[in-house]
Amino acid sequence: MPGKKYYSSPGDGSVKKDLLGLKYLQKEEISRILEKARLYKTAYQEGRPFPPLLKGKTVVNLFLEPSTRTRISFEKAVLNLGGDTINFDGSSSSIQKGETLLDTVRTIASLGVEALVVRHILAGAPHLSAKEVAIPVINGGDGRHEHPTQGLLDIFTIQENKGTTAGLKVLLVGDVLHSRVARSNLWGFLKMGLKVKLVGPFSLLPFHLEKMGVTLEKDLDRALEDTDILYVLRLQQERQDKGYVPSLEEYRYFFGVTEERLKKLPSSALVMHPGPVVPGVEIDDSVVRSPQSRIQEQVGNGVFVRMAIFNFLLGGCKDNGPAH
Ligand code: CP
Repeated sequence: MPGKKYYSSPGDGSVKKDLLGLKYLQKEEISRILEKARLYKTAYQEGRPFPPLLKGKTVVNLFLEPSTRTRISFEKAVLNLGGDTINFDGSSSSIQKGETLLDTVRTIASLGVEALVVRHILAGAPHLSAKEVAIPVINGGDGRHEHPTQGLLDIFTIQENKGTTAGLKVLLVGDVLHSRVARSNLWGFLKMGLKVKLVGPFSLLPFHLEKMGVTLEKDLDRALEDTDILYVLRLQQERQDKGYVPSLEEYRYFFGVTEERLKKLPSSALVMHPGPVVPGVEIDDSVVRSPQSRIQEQVGNGVFVRMAIFNFLLGGCKDNGPAH
């Protein structure tokens, strides 16, 4: 139904045509996706086969911005469910001849594919795409706006490690201003009952976020002591149009998660990062590899979460029933 406006959540507990942002999902919808992801992870751990829910279906990864883990993870999720994926290469496409995003999206949909995953440098590109085509569109990250599947896999990882999310204190450190991951996580974490604190250079902290119920911290070292999950953000230099920090050295001095700083974090606390990591700037390599780090686990969980999303959007899962 091209042109029709569909957003993911009608608020009745069902996941609809598209997955565009965690802003649009209800807590119950998030929980149902994560329960499904849990079933897939358990099946994987027990060596059981996945159901071929996507057999005969093709998903196009329309990534017009670089990606490693998100693109490959979507691809693996589709393959695990018996479907096919096509990776769109913008640099060799008709976009180079001046074709617009919407013409590109309409063209791909006309080729008879079943879903699109869109990553774009501009906020709102997946939303515009979703209005143009009848097939499901999943936001693979749009500008500084949202990265909903990253948010979902992060909540999944926290739940898995802590048994719950309610009441846990999460500290996001770094470049919140330019981070779509931070935005999706704010929506998701608050809906799931986490207490969210932010710390970083004031030039990179949007103060209006306090209205959403988050706390702005001034001192990373002090904030670490009362934290259950330390979520480190990359300094998004590619999305910065002016110097937000005097130097990388100064940034690291005040906000780098160094081996020394890790000692201030409770030993039961987790360290998370969406990747890609820039070691020696926002986080030390030894912290990435520390026993408290869940960074590689996050990556692995992304496959199960994305399988669950395909189950809801393409696999015919209307409830939390036996689709797997
Ligand atoms: N976390 C994340 O979006 O990583 P990629 O850019 O590698 O996909």
